[in-house]
Amino acid sequence: MAHLLGVLLLVVPSSPSALLLRDGLHEDPDPWVQNCEDQELARNASRRDELDYGPCFDEEEVKIAMRGAQFVGRNSSSKDPSSKIATSMFTEVDILCDTIPRPLSDRDERLGAGNPACRYEPSEEDLRHYAEKPADIAIVIPSNYDKDSNVSDDPSDHYPLFLGVLTWKKYARYHGYAFYSGPPAKSCPELEGRHPAWTKPCMAMGLIKKHKYLIMVDRDTTVIKPRLRLEPLFAMAGLMDKHAKKVLAVAEEWGSCKKGVRSPLSGDVNTGIVLVKQSPAAEEALASWFYGPTWCKGVTAEPIARPGWWPFQGEPCQGCSCITRGIYKWSFDQIGFYASVADNNTFRSMVTVFRPGCPINSPFADFIPHLVSGTPTKAAYDVNHREVISTNLHACNSKLMDSKPGQGNPYERCSICDALPEGFHPHSDSWSLSCRSHSRAPR
Ligand SMILES: *[C@@H]1O[C@H](CO)[C@@H](O)[C@H](O)[C@H]1NC(C)=O
Ligand SMILES: *[C@@H]1O[C@H](CO)[C@@H](O)[C@H](O)[C@H]1NC(C)=O
Ligand SMILES: *[C@@H]1O[C@H](CO)[C@@H](O)[C@H](O)[C@H]1NC(C)=O
Ligand SMILES: *[C@@H]1O[C@H](CO)[C@@H](O)[C@H](O)[C@H]1NC(C)=O
Repeated sequence: MAHLLGVLLLVVPSSPSALLLRDGLHEDPDPWVQNCEDQELARNASRRDELDYGPCFDEEEVKIAMRGAQFVGRNSSSKDPSSKIATSMFTEVDILCDTIPRPLSDRDERLGAGNPACRYEPSEEDLRHYAEKPADIAIVIPSNYDKDSNVSDDPSDHYPLFLGVLTWKKYARYHGYAFYSGPPAKSCPELEGRHPAWTKPCMAMGLIKKHKYLIMVDRDTTVIKPRLRLEPLFAMAGLMDKHAKKVLAVAEEWGSCKKGVRSPLSGDVNTGIVLVKQSPAAEEALASWFYGPTWCKGVTAEPIARPGWWPFQGEPCQGCSCITRGIYKWSFDQIGFYASVADNNTFRSMVTVFRPGCPINSPFADFIPHLVSGTPTKAAYDVNHREVISTNLHACNSKLMDSKPGQGNPYERCSICDALPEGFHPHSDSWSLSCRSHSRAPR
């Protein structure tokens, strides 16, 4: 953010009147932030796991933006929407975002499974190569509960929302990867006095010493092309190339966006799926992430000027001013990763950033979807159906893994739209834009 914000500040200097206005509003809560925190509190009441937190949305704002997009779509000779269709899987860390979160469905031509550039389709030759010479990959699913260390093979022993954990375990066995679920082996004293979501970087720090590669995933993720191996994903991210600088990969955040600007509380990248390559640089980056709050103690961060176009009432944050807030508040370790690693000049060039759903993260990802706990609109993604979807996806994935590795169509995919509950009322809004309509997502 340092560069981009700097550049934008030069272009659009913060005007004195904007600053005065901000001072006047200083005590008022930012409605967007307030809404976000209220949602977080409401979710907390029914939460089963502290690591199950998700992006933030303002449904009203998304609705208005969608109406605008449909309007422009109908009359779009000047604004060419095809310029918004991603032609590669990758993006960079910045403060910009899509006000309408993309992908908005499995048919969204911009991102996710709807865009051929986003599909995970490694060649059969590569798959055979890695089946013969597998890499030392560990699938890691952090938790704060000892009971999660014992992942039962019986689906009925699982809370439905987290059946993805059992899918991951079967997937690990199917391809021969190591698998870890539960709390870190060693205790992490720094965790006392932080939100429990911070367990994640501590667990990664321990396991990257044991394995060449880690994929660390949240309990509400799953893998929906389970016959495909993971090595080509690490290779695409640049983590398998001996000479490349990349040691970490994540996907961009889905949502947490206001008027095209990323929320300073969420950061630009999502930590629900993190790929790590064993290396001294990765160890330093993970330490920077985990010890950020400890190192920031007593550091007074320089305030950053608020650009005139800034859509949030609160100031932008940078470095310790972001990290310190995340010790107890959303987005916890995620904003820490952003400030300490992804947006840190020391590590920025070592982090690969996938676009959302391209092919990982967001509900409509082609390969590794994230059934996040927040939604821009239930017409696209209804969070009340997460349990049913997770159960049905697990059944579908298990079936695909019943055949022996190497048999059957390797690219077969279990789609979210096929995993919805049955019997919608024709006037129900749920999924009407994403799965129950045959029109495309708004352009
Ligand atoms: C969320 O719930 C946990 C226990 O379930 C509680 O300890 C914590 O204080 C709650 N957080 C907030 C912000 O209410
Ligand atoms: C489409 O564009 C034309 C010319 O710019 C304008 O007159 C018309 O009102 C627009 N219609 C819509 C639906 O935006
Ligand atoms: C793990 O869970 C299964 C089924 O819930 C149980 O039978 C088994 O004893 C447990 N194993 C350990 C080591 O706790
Ligand atoms: C950025 O990385 C350097 C090198 O590890 C570290 O000293 C610094 O504290 C990091 N900055 C933040 C804000 O975490």
